[in-house]
Amino acid sequence: MSERFDLSGRVALVTGAGNGIGKRLAKGLAEAGAEVVVADIDGAAALEVAAPIGGMARVVNVTDPASVEALFAAIDAQYGRIDVVVNNAGGGGGNAPTLELKLADWQAGIDLTLTSTFLCAQQAGRRMVTQGGGKIINVASVYGMVGHESALYDLRPDGEPPESLTYLVTKAGVINLTRGLAVYWAKHNIQVNAIAPGMVKTERLGQQISEAAWDRLAARTPMGRPANPDELVGATIFLASDASSFITGQTLVIDGGWTSV
Ligand SMILES: NC(=O)c1ccc[n+]([C@@H]2O[C@H](COP(=O)([O-])OP(=O)(O)OC[C@H]3O[C@@H](n4cnc5c(N)ncnc54)[C@H](O)[C@@H]3O)[C@@H](O)[C@H]2O)c1
Repeated sequence: MSERFDLSGRVALVTGAGNGIGKRLAKGLAEAGAEVVVADIDGAAALEVAAPIGGMARVVNVTDPASVEALFAAIDAQYGRIDVVVNNAGGGGGNAPTLELKLADWQAGIDLTLTSTFLCAQQAGRRMVTQGGGKIINVASVYGMVGHESALYDLRPDGEPPESLTYLVTKAGVINLTRGLAVYWAKHNIQVNAIAPGMVKTERLGQQISEAAWDRLAARTPMGRPANPDELVGATIFLASDASSFITGQTLVIDGGWTSV
């Protein structure tokens, strides 16, 4: 591997790393040489990912400030530094028709996607300022850039098409949170970027969405298929490494062409 992409000696945190995309990113960063902290609300899942890569497993609820503080205190105690933070845990907000969207679901989505990213970035930023730099990578979505094509998805049990207004809004928020932090913290040598995946066939979504809907999503994607979560690893290593040393505030779209149509 080119030295520019080598993460040896770096300490990297991935939130929501017990499953899906986060699990693949944690493994990928470890393969690139990083010491990886695998943090998830599901402790057993975190342990299962951390053990084979020699990482540290931690239980965290990223929506809870005290829990996020405790996570970073544990990283301080174990490694004494944090070089890379991947804010991957996110989602929520339900799929109710917007006319029926409950305030509690709206707020839960904001907490899980936006508040969590702010809380982890703030803890990371304080440490990175002191140590002279770092990399923050936020996981956004193409649904932070374009509207949601409800008709491609399975109908809800009540026969209505699913709507995800909270998700659209919070992922858009992640994209401009990324720009905002990038500008504020540029002088501290902290680069803040995001990845915006398109349709990714994770274990959870693979089961949750019917094959017929996957076929429609694949047909809507210029490359004719959803991503395998492993296909997000290269961009994440790039943004975590010295190879992206002059890139900040950007959102790297990994969508097989979804947003280019
Ligand atoms: N799968 C996709 O198609 C897709 C597309 C674009 C963006 N994304 C984004 O990628 C990220 C990961 O999605 P995924 O599909 O891999 O999800 P997933 O459900 O497969 O995994 C999410 C992980 O986060 C953990 N988690 C949930 N709530 C948490 C909390 N409060 N604190 C800590 N951990 C928590 C879960 O236990 C789980 O291990 C999300 O931000 C999602 O919005 C996913």
